[in-house]
Amino acid sequence: MAAYEYRAGLEGVPATQSSISFVDGKSGILEYRGIAIDQLASQSTFLETAYLLIWGALPSRQELAAFEGEIQRHRRLKYRIRDMMKCFPESGHPMDALQACAAALGLFYSKRAIDDPAYMQEAVVRLLAKVPTMVAAFQLMRNGNDPVQPRDDLGYAANFLYMLNEKEPDPFSAHIFDVCLTLHAEHTINASTFSAMVTASTLTDPYAVIASAVGTLAGPLHGGAAEEVVGMLERIGSVENVRPFVDRCIEQKQKIMGFGHRVYKVKDPRATILQNLAEQLFDRSGQDEYYAIAVELEKVVGEKMSYKGIYPNVDFYSGLVYRKLGIPTDLYTPVFAISRTAGWLAHWKEQLGENRIFRPTQIYTGLHEVPYTAMDDR
Ligand code: SDX
Repeated sequence: MAAYEYRAGLEGVPATQSSISFVDGKSGILEYRGIAIDQLASQSTFLETAYLLIWGALPSRQELAAFEGEIQRHRRLKYRIRDMMKCFPESGHPMDALQACAAALGLFYSKRAIDDPAYMQEAVVRLLAKVPTMVAAFQLMRNGNDPVQPRDDLGYAANFLYMLNEKEPDPFSAHIFDVCLTLHAEHTINASTFSAMVTASTLTDPYAVIASAVGTLAGPLHGGAAEEVVGMLERIGSVENVRPFVDRCIEQKQKIMGFGHRVYKVKDPRATILQNLAEQLFDRSGQDEYYAIAVELEKVVGEKMSYKGIYPNVDFYSGLVYRKLGIPTDLYTPVFAISRTAGWLAHWKEQLGENRIFRPTQIYTGLHEVPYTAMDDR
């Protein structure tokens, strides 16, 4: 076998062949099953997009209605999962709570018949249906309240905002949130999707696959950036402080959250759409104090770092949308996970379609034939 060149972080190394999504980092193109992200954001819904990603084609009206009905019927959590959540510390991070609950689902649906299409369909429906309920339930419980049951008469996005805020959202806010879910659903072989694929390749259960991916998404270099961005804007505090802040980051070689991307070397097309969604929300419900700081930060980083291909990524404006929707800052990454469950499940199915367990090699840099040293001689 040819000795392949080692690339830190497997940068630019193909880890699979996939037909689920495509990114052109130079032109800022993102397609789900060949359909451009801006078309899906403006014309589709999250559940229709999830269907497209997982089963490879847009559903018929009947197929979509059946899928939506299935999801509605599986939104509730077993009471034992809710009881388990009562033991979680309020101070714990919601991504750790979500990872624990996702893995716990495997205890209740332990058949592991991953060669049975009906089992796979059930797992897809259960995870898409229950992940939002778990996120919302932890939010209410960590504040000392009982979680509210999902409402079958509400759509996917509206129901999540209802379970979170105990108040039915206005249709416009529900629509904006649904578009955010569509935008975050899939993005080729990012770190958390790669985790999902590696876990899937051992033929373990889909709940363990999603728990792996949740744990990976939580990191600040990946999905955790959205939460960090709002904190950063808060710390900058004013438009006047932006330039000195950027100069300090450059001097101290500190990464600026919400900027940069392994693949995009132009502005992430999702950031552009999210910025527009934020502006639509501001037009209706008033400006966000941090928006002017964010726009100035994009301008100054553009002046000083665009030559390195550093532009806003998906996490830069998403937090400003979520703030307006009343979503707490440390739930931004769990919201990312709600959406990316669709992409992770699509890659789980694709991996099983032509599976070979992941087992890369290494370039060994250690010693050989070292004699054991007895304790008294150390
Ligand atoms: C997501 O992969 C995906 O598709 C992910 C995602 C998805 O949908 O799944 O798009 C979601 O994770 C978006 C990224 C969210 N993370 C952040 O916003 C955290 C801040 N960004 C960086 O940590 C960084 O840009 C990464 C991790 C996103 C990408 O890092 P790379 O490709 O490893 O780039 P690098 O660290 O090798 O940086 C290359 C150069 C370096 O400068 P030099 O040492 O060459 O002089 O660019 C600089 C870096 O210092 N750089 C930054 C920067 N990102 C890169 N400098 C300042 N601020 C930044 N944010």
